[in-house]
Amino acid sequence: MEKAELIYGGKTIGLPVVTGTEGEKAIDISRLRQESGLITLDVGYQNTGSCMSEITFIDGDRGILRYRGIPIEELAERASFSEVAYLLIYGDLPNRAEQAVFSQYLTQNSMIHEEMLRFFDGFPPTAHPMAILATMVNAMSVYYTDYYTEDFQAQTFDLMAASLISRIRTIAAYSYKHSIGQPHIYPKPDLKYTANFLYMMFDSPVDPYVPDPDIEKVLSTLLILHADHEQNCSTSTVRLVGSSMANLYASICSGICALWGPLHGGANQKVIDMLENIDRNGISIEECLASAKDKNSRVRLFGFGHRVYKSHDPRARILKQCAKTIFRNSDRRDSLVNIAIELEEAALKDEFFIERKLYPNIDFYSGILFRMIGIPTNMFTVMFAIGRLPGMIAQWKEMHDATPLKIGRPRQIYTGSTLRHYIPLEERP
Ligand code: SDX
Repeated sequence: MEKAELIYGGKTIGLPVVTGTEGEKAIDISRLRQESGLITLDVGYQNTGSCMSEITFIDGDRGILRYRGIPIEELAERASFSEVAYLLIYGDLPNRAEQAVFSQYLTQNSMIHEEMLRFFDGFPPTAHPMAILATMVNAMSVYYTDYYTEDFQAQTFDLMAASLISRIRTIAAYSYKHSIGQPHIYPKPDLKYTANFLYMMFDSPVDPYVPDPDIEKVLSTLLILHADHEQNCSTSTVRLVGSSMANLYASICSGICALWGPLHGGANQKVIDMLENIDRNGISIEECLASAKDKNSRVRLFGFGHRVYKSHDPRARILKQCAKTIFRNSDRRDSLVNIAIELEEAALKDEFFIERKLYPNIDFYSGILFRMIGIPTNMFTVMFAIGRLPGMIAQWKEMHDATPLKIGRPRQIYTGSTLRHYIPLEERP
């Protein structure tokens, strides 16, 4: 075991260095406080590993992303979303029998309890679908108590996981129908995962939805690319909440809330707002970049930059190619595609972005494709959540499988008032 040495207060403390399967190294500080009285401080956890994980590998300098060792490029091109969900959660691609059982679970658990439909009556049509999604996922723990066990049991987990992955589609589609005043469309047992979601979203009694294989493939690629991304903000939230032994529904609900933020999963919606603003108001690319570089503007170039990727985000590359192909090979047109490509090219030549290693991330092109599919802009982050759900579940399971389960409880450095005493109101200045 390699060691690092910390010299402090006249003592030399040896700290073990752990090495991952891809050669990544970390100093294990589990015993730091006992041996030195010190803790570490790392605001935003920029240099801190929260766990050891076998699920996803990212190399931010080389633009590598692999799920359980399989390159994202291969999965995006050849796998189905349900295969990728199974791979992330259980560690290997399913064989025929495993795929059949998983598909059956997804089909059998695609409807939500009829009484849950009444929740939608309480939401105004303008309710943000992320608020609806978080509410309904947490409410699942009220209706699906047979799967919900305090002591984490494997057989209930399989059903709970499939039920969440299947029903999140239904909840999302129902929130869209609620927003446009159309009746909910029940899932069809003979449709595959993404086709069923599109059917529930776009079918109506007066205008039947006709599945389009190209659209299904684009949506499946989008969901696969979003499926996991190691210890990002929302997945770390799922782990932290789950570490208290909160049930899976409550843990996933917390992850959905964390994902909503515009610095994280909410960026895809902000990218389209940014591109539409350029398109509608004739703002030049230069003006857009200038405001993103202006510290006082509080404007960011949404869809650019990443905590881990300091070279290209492989997911952005795949989506850019997907957008160029789908718009070139069809009669679909969207002026935002060209604006996005121009904006990317200008930013990648700009010293400010080069110096800070800011490249397009997954959110830069995903919104254009969600829009092409017909997803309303305020549902883009919901789509991110649908894609990311298997990864959140996989990370929650990995944490529970680890023994002992340690509740997450970071420390702090206190910088407030030193000791002082209560002063009665009449004596206060
Ligand atoms: C996702 O973690 C994950 O894996 C997330 C994700 C996943 O799959 O789960 O990949 C999904 O969240 C992608 C990111 C989506 N967010 C955005 O596109 C929002 C815009 N991007 C940024 O806000 C920012 O780049 C972050 C939040 C993504 C990363 O922030 P960091 O790592 O904390 O970096 P930082 O904010 O400290 O920025 C470093 C410098 C700063 O300038 P200086 O103070 O050094 O002068 O770069 C600047 C920042 O101001 N900067 C940007 C910028 N991103 C960083 N300036 C303008 N536009 C940007 N987009």
